[in-house]
Amino acid sequence: MIKIFALATLLFAGFLPGVTVAQQAEYLGFRACTKCHDSQGETWRSSAHAKAFDSLKPNAKSEAKTKAKLDPKKDYTQDKNCVGCHVTGYGEPGGFASSASLDDMKTLVGVTCESCHGAGGKYRNLHGEGGDRLKKQGENSERKPLVDAGQNFDMEKACARCHLNYEGSPKHVAKAPFTPFSPAVDSKYQFDYLKSVTAAGKSNPVHTHFKLRGVFKGDPVPAIRATLQEDAPEPE
Ligand code: HEC
Ligand code: HEC
Ligand code: HEC
Ligand code: HEC
Repeated sequence: MIKIFALATLLFAGFLPGVTVAQQAEYLGFRACTKCHDSQGETWRSSAHAKAFDSLKPNAKSEAKTKAKLDPKKDYTQDKNCVGCHVTGYGEPGGFASSASLDDMKTLVGVTCESCHGAGGKYRNLHGEGGDRLKKQGENSERKPLVDAGQNFDMEKACARCHLNYEGSPKHVAKAPFTPFSPAVDSKYQFDYLKSVTAAGKSNPVHTHFKLRGVFKGDPVPAIRATLQEDAPEPE
């Protein structure tokens, strides 16, 4: 009887939520990406996204805060209603945790690579392997396994999670905490995906786009890929 109970417990353990969480890809922080994608890293670093956490500090962007009825003197860096969209992987495995020291969190502070491309814990190695396969065997790798490993190719959806998450947003699944910077506060907060994502070179809010060698093939390809690759410079 005891044996059967022990077996049942073991089988059941496979369905515990803790086990499911362990299977979710972990966030790694931007250095795990810039190691190989230094060119994107350099241009991302000077973007507003890279500095997004600073905006939560007291006296930063006071005018914008006042207009959105926030208190410019308040420290919002620990505020659950703010942090999620100004850091990477908030409260998720490997992601930003308010309880940890900022020093330990420095590659997750701000909107970093994985905020848009997905938690890298499982696809990061596939990138390196794909690069090697093309170099050594002259073979391309399928993109599909990257999706299964948690890489995001629906870029517009990634942006919407933060930029269109306000009350009355055209996005149906908007849910609190909302961004205080909605078009109702100022029309400049109206999010125009195509316009912003195709901005040339350094004015691109994301990072400058560099030529891909075509290591990966097949679907899915981000809808905007072909346009961005057209005049893309070679990476350094
Ligand atoms: C070990 C080196 C390495 C690391 C680390 C790495 N990548 Fe890559 N990545 C590559 C290579 C090689 C390619 C293929 C590039 C090409 O086709 O020119 C690639 C391709 C990509 C692509 C385009 C994929 C496609 O559709 O063709 C994206 C986006 C990307 N990487 C993002 C990331 C992000 C985000 C991280 C961090 C989580 C990361 N990479 C980590 C080497 C790496
Ligand atoms: C994790 C949340 C998040 C995601 C995902 C996200 N953004 Fe942002 N974005 C922000 C925040 C926060 C700011 C404001 C940064 C600041 O000034 O503090 C911002 C700022 C911007 C700005 C204004 C830049 C400037 O220079 O003033 C543009 C344009 C923008 N994002 C476009 C995009 C696009 C395009 C995508 C998707 C490809 C995207 N964002 C994805 C949170 C996000
Ligand atoms: C749902 C995601 C989300 C939440 C939650 C959120 N923000 Fe943001 N925040 C954004 C985005 C997206 C932008 C960029 C808006 C733009 O430039 O279009 C932004 C921009 C800002 C800016 C810069 C505005 C400017 O005009 O330069 C400040 C300051 C800011 N947020 C502070 C806060 C504070 C304080 C909170 C909590 C009370 C908060 N945010 C909660 C997504 C969010
Ligand atoms: C705010 C969202 C966002 C952030 C942050 C971001 N990217 Fe991207 N990234 C994009 C979009 C949009 C594309 C264009 C879609 C495509 O071609 O894959 C892209 C494309 C890429 C590509 C394909 C080649 C190219 O240059 O277009 C690589 C590689 C890449 N990103 C790496 C990174 C790395 C490394 C970081 C962090 C240093 C990063 N990205 C941060 C949104 C983002």
